[in-house]
Order: sequence, then C-alpha cells, then structure tokens
Amino acid sequence: MVGISVPLRTRVDPGLLGIALVMMMDLGLVLSELVQNWTLLETSLGSIARIKEFAGNTPNEESNTVLQIHDESPEWLTRGEITFVDTSISWNTSETKPLLHSINLRIGAGEKFGLCGRTGSGKSTLALSLLRLNEIVSGQIFIDGQDISLMSRSSIRQRISCLSQEPFFFPGTIRQNADPLSVASSTQIIDALRSVGAWDSIVASHGTTDEELLGSILDEGILSQGQKQLFCLARALLKNSKILILDEPTSSLDHETDAKVQNYIRESFRDCTVIMVAHRIHSLLDFDQVAVLNSGQLVELGHPKDLLGKSGGEFAKLLELGS
Ligand SMILES: Nc1ncnc2c1ncn2[C@@H]1O[C@H](COP(=O)(O)OP(=O)(O)OP(=O)(O)O)[C@@H](O)[C@H]1O
Ligand SMILES: [Mg+2]
Repeated sequence: MVGISVPLRTRVDPGLLGIALVMMMDLGLVLSELVQNWTLLETSLGSIARIKEFAGNTPNEESNTVLQIHDESPEWLTRGEITFVDTSISWNTSETKPLLHSINLRIGAGEKFGLCGRTGSGKSTLALSLLRLNEIVSGQIFIDGQDISLMSRSSIRQRISCLSQEPFFFPGTIRQNADPLSVASSTQIIDALRSVGAWDSIVASHGTTDEELLGSILDEGILSQGQKQLFCLARALLKNSKILILDEPTSSLDHETDAKVQNYIRESFRDCTVIMVAHRIHSLLDFDQVAVLNSGQLVELGHPKDLLGKSGGEFAKLLELGS
C-alpha cells in the first residue's frame, strides 16, 4: 500500500489514502477471524456428520417388537402385579443360549420382592427385563395382566421407576436430573432430596439458596458414590410409579445410612411393588418373597423365614456367608 502510494502521491487524494491505510490495518484481524470461523464451521460440520452416522447406523431397539397392541392405556399399571411365565431372557437375540432359563414367578401387587445370588447369577438381568432392556427369548412377562412384549418400550419405562446399580446422571440442571419428566414442583423435589439426605451435600457444595439451586448445573464430580445413590433414590421417589426396581440401592452406603435408607424405602414405597436386588441379605429378611438365582436358574423362591428354615438351603447359605 505504502509502495503504491509513494509514486502516486501527486494523483491520489491524501484523505482516501488515509482511509485505505486504516483499512489495511484491520485486514489482519479480519483474516484471522475468517480462519477461526472457518475451522469452527468445519468442526461443527464434523459433529453433524457424526450424529447423522450414529442416527443412521444404530439399530432401533423397537424394530424387533412384533406388535404393539395395547399401548398407552392410562389405566395400565395401577396395581403393580408382575408374573413371569416360563420366561427365558438373553441380552442378544443372536445368542443361542439364554442367560436366564424358564423363570416362573408371581409378584403380587404391593409385594416386597428380594432377589439375591452370587455375582453374575443374573439378578440385574432379571430385574432389567421388566424394562425390556434385554430380549425375552421365550415365555412371557405380564405386568398388571398385560404382556409387556406387546408394548412399546418407552411406555413401559415411563411408568416403572428404576434405580440401577450404577448411579446415572446426565448433563443438565439439578432439577432436570432429579425430575427428568418434569412432573414435580420445586418443593416436592427439595423435599425428596432432603428426605433421602442428599440435599445438604448439594447445598454445601453449591452454596446458594433453594429455588436458585435447582436451576444450577449439577456437577456430579462433587458427589460421592453414596451421595449419587441417594440422589438417584430421590429421582425414583419423584417418579411416583407403582413398580420400583432397586438394584443394590445401598451398596456404597455405610451401615447407618443404609439402615436409614432401607427404612425410608419401606415407608415411602409401602403401596408400591418393590423389587430389590441385594448383596446384604439382612436387608431382605422382612420382605414378602425372596428369590435366589444361580447361573441363570431360579433355585429358591419363597418367604425368607421359610427359606431360612430349610436346612442346606441356598438363601440360608448366602446369609451365613454375608454375616
Ligand atoms: N449389557 C449386557 N450385555 C450382554 N451381557 C450382559 C450384559 N449385562 C450382563 N450381561 C451378562 O449377564 C450375566 C449376568 O449378569 P448380571 O449383571 O445380571 O449379574 P448380577 O447377578 O446382577 O451380578 P452382580 O451381583 O455383579 O450385579 C453375566 O454373565 C454378564 O456377562
Ligand atoms: Mg447386578
């Protein structure tokens, strides 16, 4: 610019030359912004391509649902009665051998049902089959008289509360994590978190007041494993459904907190059907029915007192090992 303007100094207006020089100074900035925006656009396009590929290549779990007859009836699941009729379950339809074989069970409405057995015996698999997370290879599962293999998975999952073995959080606010379906009010959410004992730890770490706090982003890193379990229990409580599946809900809690939470579960879910997987067998002693699984087979079923009375019984052995 300077090189051109020197020989042309008699013919060019100095004012215009000044403007041209100022614009030249800005050019570097504009160019660097252009490069930055270009790279941003490229990475964004890459993300879109990845999402498109994921959406296109991931098989839909509903695709092998044969029929969806009785869906979304609002009266469904008002009692919470569960029946397994000769059910075999596997995680993969291509597997020839199912993981759970010929399960026959009846869990009455409002009953407290315990599941125990060694590691890998299929407890979680059985509990999660109610949510249709795995495949029913043969037989049926009825909930309130309806065959769940004929229902859409999403409608089943919306009506059953589940506390999985691994506490699960997603990126979002405390409110979204505690009440993903947005059915509860702020007071209900705070009450639920308070009653399980998770509220104080959240307040201590965030340090703001009630209403504001629910809207702040939940940083799960600041919660201990036990506090995460308590948080998830509050989530299950807020969902307010007739069936509650608890997969070792207190495995990371100390004995005192465990006892408190166990009492709390019994009180708050008195009218619900509760299916609890437990390694601490003591917590199942006051349940209505207990099942012992071993390598995918149902080896014992009955009232805990009856099972303890049986000499050499599996349940009695597990209790002995645990104490
Ligand atoms: N998502 C999955 N996909 C395929 N197989 C699985 C899956 N989850 C579990 N399994 C298999 O199912 C079998 C039973 O596992 P399951 O998780 O039901 O055991 P568990 O009784 O709950 O054990 P734990 O006491 O350790 O929780 C295991 O052999 C495991 O390999
Ligand atoms: Mg398990």
